[in-house]
Amino acid sequence: MGRVTLRETGVVGVGIRKVTLLGHPVLRATARPLKPDEIRGAEVRRLVREMVATMEEYDGVGIAANQCWESLAAFVMGLPKGTKRHPEGIELTVVFNPIIRPIGDETEEDWEGCLSVPDLRGRVRRHSQLELSGLDADGKPFKRVYKGFPARVVQHETDHLNGLVYLDRMDGLKTLSYMSEMGRAG
Ligand code: NI
Repeated sequence: MGRVTLRETGVVGVGIRKVTLLGHPVLRATARPLKPDEIRGAEVRRLVREMVATMEEYDGVGIAANQCWESLAAFVMGLPKGTKRHPEGIELTVVFNPIIRPIGDETEEDWEGCLSVPDLRGRVRRHSQLELSGLDADGKPFKRVYKGFPARVVQHETDHLNGLVYLDRMDGLKTLSYMSEMGRAG
């Protein structure tokens, strides 16, 4: 018997994955949609648990499956209440095969970062409000409206599944900044 990882034993059921970084081809591929019976299967359920564990370990607000090496159309998002960024928090949500329909023409620009582009932040313009449709953790269709910061997260994560990162959405690279240098006086 060779080396047994936590993932293989299924006893702990949760493994933290190394996040893929910009340059890894999986981040530029279009992720494959999942069928409802696949979503209910043990393999995808385990992947989702690992995505949540990885997102929490890296202090992310969302993570897409291709950031966890799997070219599958799935993302998770979640944020505890009381953070500076978004005090209301975001309920832990898993979405398969996400489709976004913007509501209205309003957009807003704000800072964005990405676990696959460490240490950097950039200003990105996003739709203020949208309707997200997709399949839930049980493979059932759902629709939900998101506004503001959670809508931004939904757009960022859905982009990942289409092979895009936030850098592709910036109007230019002039605001791209190392977090450690942000807030320094000129
Ligand atoms: Ni990202």
